[in-house]
Amino acid sequence: MSASIPSAMTELVPPVPVAESEPPAQAPRERQPKMTARAVHVDDGDVPAIKAVDLDIHTDEVTALIGPSGCGKSTFLRCFNRMNDIISGCRVEGDITLDGEPIYGGSMDVVQLRARVGKVFQKPNPIPKTIYENVAYGPKIHGLAPKGSELDEIVRVSLERAGLWDEVKDRLEEAGTALSGGQQQRLCIARAIAVDPEVILMDEPCSALDPIATARIEDLITELKGEYTIVIVTHNMQQATRVSSRTAFFYLGELIEYDETNTIFGNPKEKQTEDYVSGRFG
Ligand SMILES: Nc1ncnc2c1ncn2[C@@H]1O[C@H](COP(=O)(O)OP(=O)(O)OP(=O)(O)O)[C@@H](O)[C@H]1O
Ligand SMILES: [Mg+2]
Repeated sequence: MSASIPSAMTELVPPVPVAESEPPAQAPRERQPKMTARAVHVDDGDVPAIKAVDLDIHTDEVTALIGPSGCGKSTFLRCFNRMNDIISGCRVEGDITLDGEPIYGGSMDVVQLRARVGKVFQKPNPIPKTIYENVAYGPKIHGLAPKGSELDEIVRVSLERAGLWDEVKDRLEEAGTALSGGQQQRLCIARAIAVDPEVILMDEPCSALDPIATARIEDLITELKGEYTIVIVTHNMQQATRVSSRTAFFYLGELIEYDETNTIFGNPKEKQTEDYVSGRFG
């Protein structure tokens, strides 16, 4: 526009003052992603389950992975703590980092990685021991080796954070498997928390639970975000909108779209995303 202003007028326009005292407003600086995936490809030597996926997992946020059955969500989730390593024939290519450090690099201790990047499974899987031992097990084997009151404290705090302490504090010596499904899943979350992880991967953590137990876990996820980076696979669209700030939509092994959850569900850019989130397929 200024090009069309006659030169005589431009002289009347006061020069824009250069603010010396006030620095220009800056967009808040994004924190470094907690984890990054670059050109990640997974196959079983034949059919690819994940193809050329790039994705950043943001620090202390909840990221949801959605998509129809068989599109590779669980396979991709397993890449973040190298759980695919234990599936025979499974090949993972590309780069994944945790705090900028390659997790598939030679210097990465996989046991240490799995303490930093914990996992909660679809079906609650308490070990066949007491409630106390389920939570104490990780700290004992991960080299922290706390004992006595120190270990008691880790168990209590982990169960409190998992929203289970009040229900189990008087029955810590009972079997973990004696709890209800929803309680067992919170026990598994307490077990994950007990080793002080930075990232928690959750693969459909509520799919075996009733609506009340599901709501408890969703509340818990909301409480835990900000303290932990959480990646959750879910088939429940409402759940993704309730708990996550970003959502990645996968289809046939490809990442179709990744954006803020509100955008993915309210104004997606890709037609495939729109069709999926509006229930037209999957
Ligand atoms: N252990 C395995 N061995 C061989 N192939 C596998 C294995 N696990 C998954 N796959 C294959 O990888 C592809 C992706 O499967 P994956 O379990 O990651 O999908 P998903 O999106 O998690 O599906 P769902 O929503 O049903 O859990 C599928 O074609 C599946 O058959
Ligand atoms: Mg799955």
